[in-house]
Amino acid sequence: MSADGFVYVTNVKSVPPGGLYRFELDGTVRILVRADDAFYALSGICTHEEAELCEGEIEGRTLWCPLHSAGYDVFTGEVTSAPAETPLAAYQVEVRDGAIYVSKECINARGLSKENE
Ligand code: FES
Repeated sequence: MSADGFVYVTNVKSVPPGGLYRFELDGTVRILVRADDAFYALSGICTHEEAELCEGEIEGRTLWCPLHSAGYDVFTGEVTSAPAETPLAAYQVEVRDGAIYVSKECINARGLSKENE
């Protein structure tokens, strides 16, 4: 981990436009999403019944859960479509020289993840 609280995850070529990239950090599953040519990091587990969101689909700025089709706003982690009710934890992303770094700390107060339950 770097001194600023960001952790290297992968390089930008690993996450194609509209794509998802699964990784683990501090024992939690997270995903990188590339939407509108920017990168976002979210919890990788659906808050409804814990499906792996890396198997979901990206449509515009919406991430659709593969199990019961809950929708999440990729930019914020907020729920946009039932049955999920709780937003995903969101993390800050920085791209440095083609490398993607993600903050260890959650940046949305309402997000749930194992480290702040
Ligand atoms: S597990 Fe994701 S909507 Fe049910």
